[in-house]
Amino acid sequence: MSLIISVASQKGGVGKSTISRLISREFAVNDFQVLIADMDISQSTCVHWNKRRLRDQLEPVIDVQLFGSVDKALKLAPNYDLIVFDGAPHATKQTIDLAKHSDIIIMPTGVALDDLEPAKDLAKELLGKGIPKEKIVVVFNHVGSSQAELEEATEYIKDKGLYVIGPYLPEKTSYRRASDDGKAATETTHTSTNQKADEVAQAIMNRIETIMQNV
Ligand SMILES: Nc1ncnc2c1ncn2[C@@H]1O[C@H](COP(=O)(O)OP(=O)(O)OP(=O)(O)O)[C@@H](O)[C@H]1O
Ligand SMILES: [Mg+2]
Repeated sequence: MSLIISVASQKGGVGKSTISRLISREFAVNDFQVLIADMDISQSTCVHWNKRRLRDQLEPVIDVQLFGSVDKALKLAPNYDLIVFDGAPHATKQTIDLAKHSDIIIMPTGVALDDLEPAKDLAKELLGKGIPKEKIVVVFNHVGSSQAELEEATEYIKDKGLYVIGPYLPEKTSYRRASDDGKAATETTHTSTNQKADEVAQAIMNRIETIMQNV
């Protein structure tokens, strides 16, 4: 049976596609057969990214396909060890559907209240639909240099009873540049940014292990 991970948020631009590609790349280097199911039919972000990756013959190979429905993507599950769903923004119905089929739902968010409130609202919506709280994992992205802002955001999420991983992605041009080159957040030209991304990926993998042990 393949592992199903969804990366979702109500808000646009918080890093769903960036985190999807990061996780996919890290599993793929560990010899997982990975499919990114790009659910964003209007932008096809991961599909375009993979064209750049294929053009430059980057390893490991990650399959990416665009899907209009969760069911269609799940039909391919027997062919893969992992399917990562890169969700579309503003797609509550799709997100609920994804969450129901997922082992884990990763919710990237920025650290400002403008970002945290929609994340909280989406989590509430998912919980209302019977998604177990343990399956929801918040990841901070676009984090600036203020430690106080990060701490307050962490408190905000914890206060809502949600799980947030410690490692986060800082706001760095090199993540955008890597993406421009068909690369993941662990494949930037800087060791320090790669390391930060690797810590995020490791923390997500550890959380998945914990969740899978408890089901
Ligand atoms: N930590 C970061 N530092 C700098 N740029 C980033 C970071 N994370 C993401 N970006 C950039 O921000 C933009 C939005 O990121 P991304 O596409 O991953 O978000 P998204 O949630 O998938 O957006 P959408 O809602 O439109 O699908 C992209 O240009 C991406 O390269
Ligand atoms: Mg996206």
